[in-house]
Amino acid sequence: MKSKMQFLALALALSAPIAALPAAQSPKPLEDPVKAPFPIHHSCNATEQRQLATALQETVTLVEHAKTHILRWGNESAIYRKYFGDRPSLTAIGAYDIIINGNPENVLFRCDNPDGNCELEGYGGHWRGENATDETVICELSYTTRRSLTTMCAQGYTISESETNTFWAGDLLHRLYHMPAIGQGLVEHYADGYDGVLELAGGNRTEAVHDSETLQYFALEVYAYDVVVPGIGCVGGQEEHGDEESEEPPSQDEDDEVEDIPDNCHTHEGGELHCI
Ligand SMILES: *[C@@H]1O[C@H](CO)[C@@H](O)[C@H](O)[C@H]1NC(C)=O
Ligand SMILES: *[C@@H]1O[C@H](CO)[C@@H](O)[C@H](O)[C@H]1NC(C)=O
Ligand SMILES: *[C@@H]1O[C@H](CO)[C@@H](O)[C@H](O)[C@H]1NC(C)=O
Ligand SMILES: *[C@@H]1O[C@H](CO)[C@@H](O)[C@H](O)[C@H]1NC(C)=O
Ligand SMILES: [Zn+2]
Repeated sequence: MKSKMQFLALALALSAPIAALPAAQSPKPLEDPVKAPFPIHHSCNATEQRQLATALQETVTLVEHAKTHILRWGNESAIYRKYFGDRPSLTAIGAYDIIINGNPENVLFRCDNPDGNCELEGYGGHWRGENATDETVICELSYTTRRSLTTMCAQGYTISESETNTFWAGDLLHRLYHMPAIGQGLVEHYADGYDGVLELAGGNRTEAVHDSETLQYFALEVYAYDVVVPGIGCVGGQEEHGDEESEEPPSQDEDDEVEDIPDNCHTHEGGELHCI
């Protein structure tokens, strides 16, 4: 009994200064500069929180650029007309703006698996639907497969031949539009895939400006064209060598030609006119 008491006293005497040491030496962590534009649930651990916050920031970056492009060019942009046809631009501007400036509080991203759907093959996440209408679960697969926008137009990605969810920003944009507070039941699925989206635009249908896939494709294409590989982008498919339809420009002297180029166009080497 006595020896046990002595041991305890000794242990206490030793442990007090030792315990104090690390506290004195470890600096308080500095604040993480990565701020999430939308709330992230505490079920996300430190690395998931950080990955998701970065991906949501990229989502905002992507749509900020899409909105800027429309505000600058409207339907003068060939890319605008390709995806939105003859439709007025207000709806698309609003659909992007609500991501940037909307109240983010009615949206929650979580990392646990409350509905068990992350067990399903290929599930990168899901909207919780009737179980929690403002919540989206992001499953483990997303953290290991979804790419950063910094890899756009690389590693085989093309707009026309790759999925919009190749990039986490495109994937999260789609998930955000499913949240009632963001998509408001207006941004929905009316077309599927690249060809479906182009068909929707060509048909002069009002749905083009509030189709979820159209809004993703347009944002990705203008980002590729304006930012990633300026003036070129990475549409892929036929469009890459798709100038067959362009006719010989009427011959005129060079000065006239330069003056006639619209604001949103530029000439490539060899005189090829390229308009955005
Ligand atoms: C967070 O969870 C993921 C998935 O379980 C895991 O891979 C990762 O190592 C965890 N991060 C930390 C810091 O524990
Ligand atoms: C662009 O929009 C304006 C205003 O809605 C319209 O008058 C014009 O015809 C449109 N141009 C094209 C090329 O669609
Ligand atoms: C809602 O919860 C039930 C019961 O856990 C589950 O079967 C269902 O798949 C969930 N719904 C969604 C959309 O996850
Ligand atoms: C597209 O629809 C609008 C109204 O819905 C109409 O004013 C416009 O002429 C249509 N354009 C074409 C090319 O059909
Ligand atoms: Zn969807």
